[in-house]
Amino acid sequence: MEIYKETSLLKQRLQKLRSQSKSIGFVPTMGALHQGHISLVERAAKENDITVVSIFVNPTQFNNKEDLEKYPRDPDADFALLEKNSCDIVFAPTVDEMYPTPDTRVFSLGSVAEVMEGKYRPGHFNGVCQVVSRLFNIVEPNRAYFGQKDYQQIAVIKAMVRKYMPTFKGEIVSCPIKRESDGLALSSRNVHLSPEQRQSALLISKTLFEAKKMADNKATQKQITDFIKRSIASDANLCLEYVEIADKDTLQPIANEYPKNAVICITVYDGKTRLIDNILL
Ligand code: PAF
Repeated sequence: MEIYKETSLLKQRLQKLRSQSKSIGFVPTMGALHQGHISLVERAAKENDITVVSIFVNPTQFNNKEDLEKYPRDPDADFALLEKNSCDIVFAPTVDEMYPTPDTRVFSLGSVAEVMEGKYRPGHFNGVCQVVSRLFNIVEPNRAYFGQKDYQQIAVIKAMVRKYMPTFKGEIVSCPIKRESDGLALSSRNVHLSPEQRQSALLISKTLFEAKKMADNKATQKQITDFIKRSIASDANLCLEYVEIADKDTLQPIANEYPKNAVICITVYDGKTRLIDNILL
């Protein structure tokens, strides 16, 4: 496995591989890797000749300084895990390498970026678009892999590519959420949970699975959201930030009383840890 910290060297290497007609699969990450990331790496390795993983904790997507400082970082463990798991090339730049000058670009993507995470984490998606557009320009992947746990992020990145990167030829591949055997969605932030908070966090996926059953049995939007609010409120460690039943493509509230072709997106604080999850209906 090759590790690059410099953009120019990585670009040279990838140019050479492209000239040998190698296809490039790309998994952008912020490190603190877990099996959810590894499932993306494995899929990229299966569908491409070369798998590139980036590890970069992107400061411009954190709207909260403490959250950025607390974000888990363990590059050596990440490199070791990638080495064992089909990764060919790691790109691990410094902040100065990624942003030699401040990125002042403003991505105007309309409502898909304004609801839910867009509303509760102002500036977050703008930072995601800044870094992902840079990474796409550096790596020029044939395919880029993203996990559906960040459901809205995928919709925003697709919108960003459509509007701001019309010559980008890569395919954005959306991959299923990876869960622990008890249902908890894998997340780098789970390391912050105490054993008691970890137990409480289970209620989030359990509630979503139950909500899906309700939708399958023709419950109304109101019945489902009322149930979710009551369920999360029943655990003293949990505090609901938002729950939305949204159109699965546009992410706008759905008009239909009985939700279908929809996604339930939820964000919950478990103590101080912000957890997100979702389920498709
Ligand atoms: O999903 C993430 O880990 C990040 O938002 C991403 C896509 C790597 C951009 O920093």
